[in-house]
This record gives sequence, structure tokens and C-alpha cells, in this order.
Amino acid sequence: MNKKFYITTPIYYPSAEFHIGHCYTTIIADAIARYKRLSGYDVFFQTGTDEHGLKIENKAKEAGVTPKEYVDKIIENAKDLWQSLNISYDFFIRTTDDFHVKRVQEIFKKLYDQGDIYKGEYKGLYCVPCESFWTETQAADGKCPDCGRDVTEVTEEAYFFRLSKYQHKLEEFYETHPHFIEPESRKNEMLNNFIRPGLEDLCVSRTSFTWGIPVTFDEKHVIYVWIDALTNYITSLGYPEETPEFKKYWPADLHLVGKEIVRFHTIIWPAILMALGLELPHQVFGHGWLIIDGGKISKSLGNYKDPREYINTYGVDAVRYFALREVPFGSDGTFSEKALITRTNGDLCNILGNLVSRTIQMGIKYFNGVVKNPGVSEDIDAYLVDSINNLKSVVSEKVDALKINEALECIFEVLRKCNKYIDDTTPWVLAKEEDKLPRLETVIYNLLEGIRICAILLQAFIPTTSEKIFKGLNITNTDFSALDIKEEVYNLGLEKPANLFERIKED
Ligand code: MSP
Repeated sequence: MNKKFYITTPIYYPSAEFHIGHCYTTIIADAIARYKRLSGYDVFFQTGTDEHGLKIENKAKEAGVTPKEYVDKIIENAKDLWQSLNISYDFFIRTTDDFHVKRVQEIFKKLYDQGDIYKGEYKGLYCVPCESFWTETQAADGKCPDCGRDVTEVTEEAYFFRLSKYQHKLEEFYETHPHFIEPESRKNEMLNNFIRPGLEDLCVSRTSFTWGIPVTFDEKHVIYVWIDALTNYITSLGYPEETPEFKKYWPADLHLVGKEIVRFHTIIWPAILMALGLELPHQVFGHGWLIIDGGKISKSLGNYKDPREYINTYGVDAVRYFALREVPFGSDGTFSEKALITRTNGDLCNILGNLVSRTIQMGIKYFNGVVKNPGVSEDIDAYLVDSINNLKSVVSEKVDALKINEALECIFEVLRKCNKYIDDTTPWVLAKEEDKLPRLETVIYNLLEGIRICAILLQAFIPTTSEKIFKGLNITNTDFSALDIKEEVYNLGLEKPANLFERIKED
């Protein structure tokens, strides 16, 4: 049986239309999911939306519609956006799904019955736009540490989750599972800023708004967002019922999350799972933000365009490639249209596009599009052929370490070498002499192999472009097992591919 791989994105708040920051996490999750599928894993890739809470209730009121009507429209758009970005999710969960509501209620009741949830009184500082509660120390200046806006003081009867009980168990878990939180810096942040200073019990219900999942045994309470949201990762698989899907896919292999929600995924979520007696996810990776003009791209700041505008102008793979290549995964990075154009022209047009069109054209011109390897090698071939042969293991290692930008860098290094190889071997000179034709064919063959191997690996990242390249090479064997083919024969006739990428004018 194939090994399984369960990967998730956060479930996004549909409080406003999605922006390039949401695309960022989702594109990366998609690339990893595709890569694992191509490597033979049985992948379950889940994304979705986190639909309850005061902020959405308020937004809907402003818009004069019900909260459900409000989110329905945004979700329709979000699904359309994921489709235009070629996001290959296996399941889209909505926290308003009936099955989720019912299962969250069951989980809440179970935790209450076993004493992990109790009733108390909540006093605290609340940031409405961020839907976050803060302690006096965290919001010392009366401002939300995330967005800088005013927090308000609130007191109400509420249910609490005994988070404090899990402090030592969490520390122990971090110690015995050194890769649970990545990158390392985020783990230290969690330990030093949150766990070691002491965990307080967590407020998990609200009476001050109604747009949420009711507590079945105390109906004036709705379940506060984090219990409702985090459990999406298991309710989708059927939990609390031990369904075959649950048994197969849980625990998750990778939760990809933005850095500001690492805390919820590495403290609250593991504690809930411990309370439920369930296994913990293998890894939570906290990535950085895409920044515009020095600030986070954000719905509440309204400083962004509909991502479909970029897709329509520059093409889906230009947007995907930028998200995957530009920023070391884990760090913050700047998003600008100028940087997107520079990347597209520099890598996709000049390195990839030119190589593919030049090589295929030569194959057609010199050999009528049918190229095999006559084996007339020269020493100079080694730098290219060796790096083509090593590429699969190099890239897989990078993807496993979630160094996605470096994985792409390695692929483009080989493409760059292909271009250099054309300059070094000067095929147009070889073509002038009849007795050099076998050598010329080996040269073209080596180039085609470089392109083929790169295109197979690139499928995970820029699938539409890879498809076009496969068509140009006229090959059908394109899953990762084809990386091990030693001698692909290009005997079906190369086809001049449509321009892969148009050069974009910088102004
Ligand atoms: N609903 C919660 C998550 C619950 S998961 C059980 C939430 N939603 S969110 O819509 O505010 O953000 C979702 C994700 O999008 C976060 O991981 C966040 O980091 C990411 N991004 C939002 N803006 C971003 C950028 N500008 N750049 C990169 N990622 C960003 O939090």
C-alpha cells in the first residue's frame, strides 16, 4: 500500500475576498501535495474556510445580508480563485458544513464530560478585527499586538479549556519531537514567549455573539473560533467517528500555517489532541508573510488587488512560480508587480522558454523532430549529464526539507546549464558537416533529456507549463517513475510548442 501524506492549509476567514497572501500558502501546499502524489504517496490535501465569529457577523450586518449569505458569496469566489490557480485540493471544508457543526459539538461535549472544559468567567482584551484575545501584558499599550488597533475590555461567563494542564506534556513533546515545529526559530519563540512563562486556561465559548456553533448543553454559548476552527483537520475525516478515512490519514503530516497562527497550531491544537487522546501532527511549518510597501498584505488594510488580475495579465504559472521561488520559505518577502515581472522575464522567459523553443526547433530542423541517442559523447557533456542524473534526488531532498525555493533554484540551475551547453557545443556549426551529425544528435538528445527531466519535476510547481513542454516533446510517460528512464526516445516527432512565456514589458 502506498504511504499516505495528509497536508493542510489554514482554513481562511471569508470576511473579505482572498488576496495574494492567501494564495501564497495555498500554492505552496499545492506544490507539495502534487510533488508527493507524483512521488507515489496517497495524498490528502485539505483547505477550506473558517466562517464563524463576530467579525463576519458584523460584516454581514454592514452588507445587509445574513452571515451565511455573506460567506457563501466569498467562498464561491475563493473556489473559483483556487481553480484558476490550479489548486488540486482533495477536500474543501467549511466550518458551516453540517457534519462539522455536529462533530464539533460532540468534541466539545466530550471534553466537558471528561473535565477538560469547565465553566468560568472571562475577563480580557479583545481585538474585533483580528478576533484575538490578548492578556494585559500582550496588549500593554491598549493596542492589538498584531494590527495595532485599539482593544476593548470584556467580561462574560464562558467555558474554558484546561490548557494549563498540558504545559509540561507540551514541553516534553517538543523535546522528543525536534521537528514538530519548523523553522527552529518559531519553536524557540513558542517555548520562550508562551509555554515557559506558563499557559493560562483558554476561553472556548462566547455569549456576546451568535454566529457560531451552539454549545448543545448550554445554548446561549457559542463555541469560540479556535476549537471550531482547529478541529476542521479531524472532522473532515469523520472524527469523533473512527472512520476508515480517519484511520488512514490522521495524524496530519504537515500543517502549513502563517507565522501569526503558529501559536494556535503548536500549543492549543496539540493540547486539544492530547485531551482527546489522539496522535499529534508530524509537523507544523510557520511561514513568513508577503509584504507590500513594508506592511502585511491584509484584508483589514485593503492594500491589495484581486489575484485573478495577476493571473490574467501574467499567466497562472508566472504567479505560482513567483510565490514558490521568490521568498525563502519561512521568511517574509516583498510582493510587487515589478518583482513578479522580473522573475517571469528572467527565469521563465529567458531561461526556460528560450531553451525549450530553441532545442525543439533544432530537433525539428536537423532531425525532422525524431531524436535518439547515437552515443557520441564528449568530455564536455559531463557537467550537464551528471547534473541531470542527480537532479531528482537533489530536488526531492529540498522538497522534503520544505526548501521549495531552493528546489526550484536547483531545477533552474540545470536549465541554465542546458543553455550554456548550447553555447559550448554550437550545434549550428556541427550541422554544417555531414560526419558531425551523430555528435549533433547526441547534443540535441542531451538537451531534450535535460528539458524532459526538468519538466517532469516542474509539474508539481508549474503544471500548465510542464504540460505544454510534454506536448512539445511528444511524450506521455510523465510521472516520477519516468525520471528513471535512462533512454527516452523522441520518436513521435517533436512539436513546436506555443510560446511558453511572453516577455513582459517592464513599464
Ligand atoms: N481562520 C484562521 C486560521 C484557522 S486555521 C485552523 C486565520 N485565517 S486568515 O484568513 O486570517 O489567515 C489564514 C492564513 O493566511 C494565515 O496562515 C496567514 O498567515 C495567511 N496570510 C494572510 N495574509 C498573508 C500574507 N500577506 N502573506 C502570507 N500569508 C498570509 O488566521
